[in-house]
Amino acid sequence: MSGQQRELTLRFLAEPADVNYGGKVHGGVVMKWIDQAGYAAAVAWSGHYSVTVAVGGIRFVAPIRISDLVTVAVKLVHTGTSSMHFLVEVSARDPMQGPDQNRLCTHSVIVFVALDQAEGRPMAVPTWTPLDDEDRSLHEYAQQVMALSKGIEDTVTGLRIKADTQT
Ligand SMILES: CC(C)(COP(=O)(O)OP(=O)(O)OC[C@H]1O[C@@H](n2cnc3c(N)ncnc32)[C@H](O)[C@@H]1OP(=O)(O)O)[C@@H](O)C(=O)NCCC(=O)NCCS
Repeated sequence: MSGQQRELTLRFLAEPADVNYGGKVHGGVVMKWIDQAGYAAAVAWSGHYSVTVAVGGIRFVAPIRISDLVTVAVKLVHTGTSSMHFLVEVSARDPMQGPDQNRLCTHSVIVFVALDQAEGRPMAVPTWTPLDDEDRSLHEYAQQVMALSKGIEDTVTGLRIKADTQT
């Protein structure tokens, strides 16, 4: 039985092991945090094991410093039949400063699909319905990101087939 929790937040310190060549947090590490938070939110909503199917609209807005207090906030903004689409915002601040100093560092939409573990196939998830204007805007944004993501997928598939036939 699922808890049907729509929002989830992770908070932790950026560690020295997360550093990139420029001394800030590595972009790949931020993507891992987005995936981990999205996974926790997906299984909380569906009550089932879930896998990442797509990540869209990712934008690294500002760097995160080592030792910053990082917040990864996840919000469900669309459900399909088996898919759950989450808006993810990663923000950070010096832990010696107050919450008003939080900087938006990265945002993205990440899509998970709930799987029937015995069959390994997508399974239906509880439906989420937008309740107000903000929800409806986020819902529309998620659908735009999905349309772009699927369009890119179709283009890339076509390109890959062409490349294969040339070898
Ligand atoms: C996820 C997976 C099971 C989906 O299988 P599939 O046969 O493609 O299933 P479907 O075509 O029915 O798609 C399942 C859902 O994904 C959605 N989806 C597929 N491509 C998408 C994209 N680019 N953007 C957003 N959603 C997408 C579909 O719309 C569908 O959602 P719906 O049921 O709500 O309509 C399969 O692609 C897979 O195993 N991928 C690898 C997952 C993985 O290893 N992730 C990384 C580690 S967790």
